[in-house]
Amino acid sequence: MSTTNNNINTSLEPDIKIRTATIDDLPAIFHLGEKVFTPKDVSNLYRTWDEYEVTGLFNSEPEYMLVAVVGKTKVVGFALGSVIEKKRSAWTYGYLLWLGVDAAYKRMGVAGMLFDRFRSLMEKADVRILMIDTQADNVAALRFFESKGFTNPIDHIYMTLNLENQ
Ligand SMILES: CC(C)(COP(=O)(O)OP(=O)(O)OC[C@H]1O[C@@H](n2cnc3c(N)ncnc32)[C@H](O)[C@@H]1OP(=O)(O)O)[C@@H](O)C(=O)NCCC(=O)NCCS
Repeated sequence: MSTTNNNINTSLEPDIKIRTATIDDLPAIFHLGEKVFTPKDVSNLYRTWDEYEVTGLFNSEPEYMLVAVVGKTKVVGFALGSVIEKKRSAWTYGYLLWLGVDAAYKRMGVAGMLFDRFRSLMEKADVRILMIDTQADNVAALRFFESKGFTNPIDHIYMTLNLENQ
């Protein structure tokens, strides 16, 4: 006869919750971003990921900083965004600036949960258009955003000029 204890979580899926980031989450967000935004995976994004991205957004728009946590404090993913109101435009835009998930927790729906919460915050802020940007060769991100309904990819070319050689 099998015994069942209702207090034991027998699911193999980790218990992941989405919440607004607090100041105590900032180091974990920063260090996870260092792992996630690597030259190999996102050959351009990593250049601009630094501690000021995290502290700056926490200062300006902490309500749009979300973390996915296992247990009380283990940050396994984050979404950082911003609301943009353009002069001479009646429309309000939402920008999902940074979305990252710990490699050990990928394909478990973590980014999906973060995005869904972010989207509902944007709707509450009367945002009419959501924007993201990512590398053209970042297949995981492209498939992810397509799965969330994003369309209309527009090519954007980055060029470099090495000033040291001149
Ligand atoms: C892109 C990223 C955020 C996705 O996170 P995730 O938690 O693994 O995504 P989810 O589990 O919520 O995936 C939802 C859906 O997106 C698509 N998807 C996600 N990763 C994919 C991959 N590697 N290949 C193909 N499709 C993928 C699938 O449709 C997936 O659904 P499925 O697992 O049922 O097939 C994650 O891979 C990541 O952190 N990448 C590095 C950072 C980055 O590129 N960020 C985005 C730009 S800022």
